[in-house]
Amino acid sequence: MNMLPPAARCAFSIEGDADPARTHANAFRALGLSLDSHRGEDLAVRSPIDGALLATLSVHGAADIEAMVARARTAFLAWRSVPAPRRGELVRRFGNLVRDNIEPLSALLSAENGKILEEARGEVQEVVDICEFAVGLSRQLYGLSIASERPQHRLTEYWHPAGVLGLISAFNFPAAVWAWGTTVALVCGDSAIWKPSEKTPTTALAFVGLLQRAMRDFDAAPAHLVQLAIGGADLGRALADHPGVDILSATGSTAMGRDVAERTARRFARSILELGGNNAMIVTPTAELDLAIPAITFAAAGTAGQRCTTLRRLIVHADRKAELLDRLIPVMSRLETGNPLRPGVQVGPLIDGDAFRRMQAALERARAEGGLVHGGERIEDGLPADGYYVRPAIVEMPGQTPIVCEETFAPILYVMTYRTLEEAIALQNAVPQGLSSSIFTMDMREAEYFQSALGSDCGIVNVNIGTSGAEIGGAFGGEKQTGGGRVSGSDSWKNYVRRATATVNYSSALTLAQGVRFDVIEDDRATAPQQGGN
Ligand code: UN1
Repeated sequence: MNMLPPAARCAFSIEGDADPARTHANAFRALGLSLDSHRGEDLAVRSPIDGALLATLSVHGAADIEAMVARARTAFLAWRSVPAPRRGELVRRFGNLVRDNIEPLSALLSAENGKILEEARGEVQEVVDICEFAVGLSRQLYGLSIASERPQHRLTEYWHPAGVLGLISAFNFPAAVWAWGTTVALVCGDSAIWKPSEKTPTTALAFVGLLQRAMRDFDAAPAHLVQLAIGGADLGRALADHPGVDILSATGSTAMGRDVAERTARRFARSILELGGNNAMIVTPTAELDLAIPAITFAAAGTAGQRCTTLRRLIVHADRKAELLDRLIPVMSRLETGNPLRPGVQVGPLIDGDAFRRMQAALERARAEGGLVHGGERIEDGLPADGYYVRPAIVEMPGQTPIVCEETFAPILYVMTYRTLEEAIALQNAVPQGLSSSIFTMDMREAEYFQSALGSDCGIVNVNIGTSGAEIGGAFGGEKQTGGGRVSGSDSWKNYVRRATATVNYSSALTLAQGVRFDVIEDDRATAPQQGGN
């Protein structure tokens, strides 16, 4: 995948150093970036790996949003008249910088977010991938030409830049989700303001630092084309309320999304929402467990269960439950939990103590609702006291009880059984969220039924792979409480542009649509009533 010669790449390597604060500082140094101009006293950024202080930053207030939006609007007015392929060139240069710096970017992302280095590399690769996608798109912002019902008329649809994008992203994908929206918005001719999670602001500073580097030698890019708003939820609300923000993209909890959606709807702005998931996999009688076991394990325990696409519900055919759990429980319990910067570690820490307490509370409720819990306990042996490390939990449930219908952002996999495929699909669809789903089957009828209108009601419908780890090419998002948005991929670029329908008459007659006749007599002297005569 890497087409650049090795010499072009950054020489950074963590070389066995698994100390998060040192790794973080070294990664910034290797990137040639500094946090100095952002240092302050407002926001302590700690590594979930050991609680080490990575930086203390100053934050923006809601009042700063006013000035940011004004600057973003000025930037938009300049950027919208740069030809789209030229806009793509900026994204190409940024993508190359990211590609050259995959190692330090992954290391600092892992130190700040706690995902294992391998998955951090995957996320940074996802940024490179979306840059390539957006560059291609910059020459493919196609409109339609439509057959007009009138003679010698041309009917066309154009897509124009839409304005200012406000983008709120979550801690769990601190770079890729921003890049999904922003690179596409940039080639579409928009400017952007990014409000990252206050848990991962330094990853945001690193990526925006590289984008600014790409812009430095790029005359066509106006100042303040992409700005960063660092701080809490008040900033997100200010973006959602501001009349100068044309599109608001938000990834995170359903509660946050509902608030943002109401605010943007009140002022008729566009929102793109990618919210909670409560993703299920159906394991059928013909499922190949050699495929299903690793798929379940990665989807349920990968990223410590902190993906919106994480597998949270396993709906297994009653005849295969014992066989499946006999294999799955030992595999899950053998997963290497620990410092995500160390090679071989498969599960890093939860983001913080609150996440741990929410996980334990969910397991308590699951027990109270009849669940049998395997794993799920905190692991402290040989691990930093200020990191929240857990063994991924498998919970055998008597049915789809209330706790199973909730998304808990932690590695908890609820297991239920079914007898008929219709029953399995009904169970799968009977939760408020609708992001990702999958089925393991070798039966073509089942696979097709699952993907059909009668099957899964989710935005992502997979066969013989897990629920997480979507490629950037397909539209990403889901239905119901997931918010209905498609943040990126496929034709989701249409969220970042405004449509203009143009009808041009090149005949010498004025013809009305729908055959309407409306004769106007031009010569008013001939028809007007005589004035004042007697
Ligand atoms: C998220 O968790 O918000 O499909 C995004 C996936 C990743 C993106 C997850 N490509 O799991």
